[in-house]
Amino acid sequence: MVKRAKISIIGAGNVGATCAHWAAAKELGDIVVLDIPDKEGVAKGKMLDLACCGPIERFDSNIKGTSDYRDIAGSDVVVITAGLPRKPGMSRDDLIQTNVKIVKSVSEQVREFAPESIVIVVSNPLDAMVYTAWKATGFEPHRVMGQAGSLDVARFRAFLAMEIGCSVEDISALLLGGHGDDMVPLPRCTSVHGIPVTSLLSEEKITACVDRAKVGGGEIVKLMGTSAYYAPASGTIQMVEAIVKDKKRIIPSAAYLSGEFGVDGYFVGVPALLGAKGVEKVVEFDLTDDEKALFEESASHVKDLVGTVREMFPDLA
Ligand code: NAI
Ligand code: 2OP
Repeated sequence: MVKRAKISIIGAGNVGATCAHWAAAKELGDIVVLDIPDKEGVAKGKMLDLACCGPIERFDSNIKGTSDYRDIAGSDVVVITAGLPRKPGMSRDDLIQTNVKIVKSVSEQVREFAPESIVIVVSNPLDAMVYTAWKATGFEPHRVMGQAGSLDVARFRAFLAMEIGCSVEDISALLLGGHGDDMVPLPRCTSVHGIPVTSLLSEEKITACVDRAKVGGGEIVKLMGTSAYYAPASGTIQMVEAIVKDKKRIIPSAAYLSGEFGVDGYFVGVPALLGAKGVEKVVEFDLTDDEKALFEESASHVKDLVGTVREMFPDLA
């Protein structure tokens, strides 16, 4: 019997509901969106609304809003978006005290009710929340990952395409490091349909795009008072699609490193091959000395954040 994939999304807020939207539009499988009991009506209402798009958009997914973890049983993928988003003036790191408690408790429920699932964390501060989910689920590291790079690289590609005046589809780019303003876009690995971007844009213009990608999240928070959700959800569903269709796509993701790129025991953004088993491979390659230095700085920031998680919850150490 052919089985539809089952995708559960924890948190029915801006990112969670928009993840459900993209997953339904791409007809990736059946969808459950779960929020806390106080927000059960919101989860149910949004998902009923989304289900009614099916006849127009032509998808046949079963879509359910709930606050009952029994509904996530049998999930192939669980996406964790539960937690506070930042407000203007806040960094992602400012969310750690609140969100670590939320992500820990959500992950414990995922361990109980969807023990075979692959988990994609979206809640911020991203790299520390992935670590939290890994420890609290007890899952093998390849079954836990974080979404940041697919979004950050999409922003970088979008800004380059705006600058060049070409299709976004023709820009191929790569970015490493944590999901903070110290992320590491790599112009050296960026091309426009194979033509090195350095041949088409001045160093000054590339640097402007790099800088804009680094603070792209903050630019949107300033404009609308809360954090982005269309592109974050789109990036997340790109990862879900790679897993449920076993596509073996290489997508920058926060993946567990055991020595790759010189990091051991942390989740940091690197090119990851995503397929049915989760992170099937970390694609390692040589960095230049400058890139290495920037990557190490970003990774050391991730280590500090994980240190805070360990201090708050010694059982996650
Ligand atoms: P939101 O406030 O719209 O939604 C968050 C939802 O989580 C709310 O509906 C809330 O009730 C729910 N929630 C809180 N505690 C919960 C629990 N224990 N169990 C289940 N649900 C719970 O926030 P938004 O915009 O959806 O952002 C969610 C998170 O994603 C934030 O931490 C934000 O910083 C992060 N984010 C990460 C991005 C990334 O690229 N990694 C990009 C954008 C946002
Ligand atoms: C973003 O980059 C806030 O992480 C969120 O939009």
